[in-house]
Amino acid sequence: MNRPIVRHAPIVPGVPHLLHGGDYNPDQWRASKETTWKEDMRLARLAGINTLSVGIFAWAALEPEEGRYEFGWLDEILDLMAENDLTAVLATPTGARPGWMSRAYPEVLRVNRDRTKNRHGGRHNHCLTSPVYREKTTAVNTALAERYQDHPALGVWHLSNEYGGECHCDLCQERFRAYLQTRFSSLDELNESWWTAFWAKTYGDWSHIESPSEHGHGEQDIHGLQLEWMRFTTEQFVDFYEHETAPLKAITPDVPRTTNLMGTYPGIDYYRLAQALDVVSWDSYPEWTGTGKDVAKGARASFLHDLTRSLKGKPFMLMESSPSATNWRPVAKLHRPGVHLLQSLQAVAHGSDTVQYFQFRKGRGGSEKFHGAVVDHEGTERTRVFQDVAEVGARLAELDGVVGTDTPADVAVVYDWHLRWALEDQKGMLQGRTDYEGAVVAHYRAFWEQGVPTDVIDSSLIARPGYLDRYKVLVAPMLYMLRPGVAEAIDAFVRRGGTFVATYATGYVDEHDRTFLGGFPGPLRETLGIWAEEIDALYPEDRNSIEWDGASYEAVELCELIHAETAETLGAYGSDFYAGRPALTVNRRGEGRAYFVAARTGDDFLAEFYGRVVAESGAERALDADLPAGVTAQVRTDGTTDFVFLLNFNPAAASVETGGGTVELAPFGTAVVERARA
Ligand code: GLA
Ligand code: ZN
Repeated sequence: MNRPIVRHAPIVPGVPHLLHGGDYNPDQWRASKETTWKEDMRLARLAGINTLSVGIFAWAALEPEEGRYEFGWLDEILDLMAENDLTAVLATPTGARPGWMSRAYPEVLRVNRDRTKNRHGGRHNHCLTSPVYREKTTAVNTALAERYQDHPALGVWHLSNEYGGECHCDLCQERFRAYLQTRFSSLDELNESWWTAFWAKTYGDWSHIESPSEHGHGEQDIHGLQLEWMRFTTEQFVDFYEHETAPLKAITPDVPRTTNLMGTYPGIDYYRLAQALDVVSWDSYPEWTGTGKDVAKGARASFLHDLTRSLKGKPFMLMESSPSATNWRPVAKLHRPGVHLLQSLQAVAHGSDTVQYFQFRKGRGGSEKFHGAVVDHEGTERTRVFQDVAEVGARLAELDGVVGTDTPADVAVVYDWHLRWALEDQKGMLQGRTDYEGAVVAHYRAFWEQGVPTDVIDSSLIARPGYLDRYKVLVAPMLYMLRPGVAEAIDAFVRRGGTFVATYATGYVDEHDRTFLGGFPGPLRETLGIWAEEIDALYPEDRNSIEWDGASYEAVELCELIHAETAETLGAYGSDFYAGRPALTVNRRGEGRAYFVAARTGDDFLAEFYGRVVAESGAERALDADLPAGVTAQVRTDGTTDFVFLLNFNPAAASVETGGGTVELAPFGTAVVERARA
């Protein structure tokens, strides 16, 4: 690894343990608090739980009437938690609003893309621009921070819940126009950047600009508008987060603040939002099936953990996961034995310092009453799920040494929200089937199967001076958009000795979604030593192939027709009118190499190809051994001791050679092996 190992402080100052707990809604149980709350404390301790998240969606309980706060119940529960050594993840209540606010101030209600105005209901249903909503938020957050600033239970601030959606009200339209004026120095520049001469869309005045809508400027015309709208929406959340945290930051500067993210949720650029957070947290709900399909599910879940960790490059919080069934899926499958421990240690293996759930106790009513929980309606510790949770609690308690440890990686895979927005909007190639995330996960998985720790980074990180120096391998599937500075940073990385892998659909557009002129892959043409002249889209049943080193691998979906300029051809297409033309190339440049994979391939090609890339580049593997299919190995380290996590996603047993012996893994089994760091 080309960067020093870092040991981070525990997330909650003074709590040097992995946190274990989850969302808890004592406000739903006030009528029976004498028995239920006390029993909750007993059950939490019994399950090895040391943290509970309280106050999420509690605004109506905290402020039943405008300006009249009721903190008594929260005082009591926080006192109980402190007595029981439970750290509070204390939420601001802004994820849902009390009814009085919507009635008195309709401006707080959201307006949808089709310009219909929402009624009171649901959650996340508020305008982020609304001065009233902002004022009420400041008031309640200030009251919370003032009241609990010295409370011994307070550990982490949990801002709102799963920020998402967008608002198209008049206030937001004004704010959007103001934002655009910070992005473009003149309307001419905006018109040029968005190529508005197309279909007579040229704007004559800033006031003519409106947010995208199915009934107006939509995805069929100006893509630059849609891109800036997504960037604006991201900035709205960053700004609202900063607004919400201002009183917390002022009153409790040492209490870390976060908001829970959702993996690759498409509506917000999380790399941008993460800059505002003290610690990143997220909600992970893999769809475990109990079958061989769970290997693919496991690879994707690992990808999402690595992405979340990479947002800030330090330990994160698994803020929510289900201890069993997830109620919002059409099929609320139970977790098979072992799976709960597996998904929990998986998160820790990839850099989480917490394992938290939705939810601690099942409610009696509401749409989530059948969602998995630590405590079921039955109410005791006798349930299978409770026992699973208690087992996780016991295992986590043995892993204090993991707290704050690093997750070194020699490989980075690129995942980029701006690129995704542009790629999914484009009308060409494959519509609705570009599957950007699927392509990135497929390349990621080839490393995961070899137990090669991997970061998942975006263009904003690539373009940071010197950032790529830490890696040996950079993989960027479908790097369709090249944001400023990215091509230059990649070229420098290759010249210095790095290995870069690009694929079809690379280097088509700039940050405004305008195509590059002079041949794709645009500014990466010299780095890759190829010219991509055309791209062929395949019907789902169509197949081509890449013939490489005596073997034939399937090519599907997109086949780019390239010319090797300075690059050497390693593999060629097997059929159709472009049979024999280059499909896999390598360009030696400076000290490094830049590979180009011209078509979408299956996992067999990626496994073979990245097996060679890992060997050639010297990228570190968690174990110097071949892993059985469906088993991955990941490492956390404090620089002296390595914690090697072995995770078996197969419904069958597997055995792993660790160098120090053989470890037998049960179906969906796990092991943590400690060794001295070499
Ligand atoms: C999300 C929310 C929770 C709950 C869970 C259910 O992650 O944050 O409030 O609705 O989903 O899975
Ligand atoms: Zn609005």
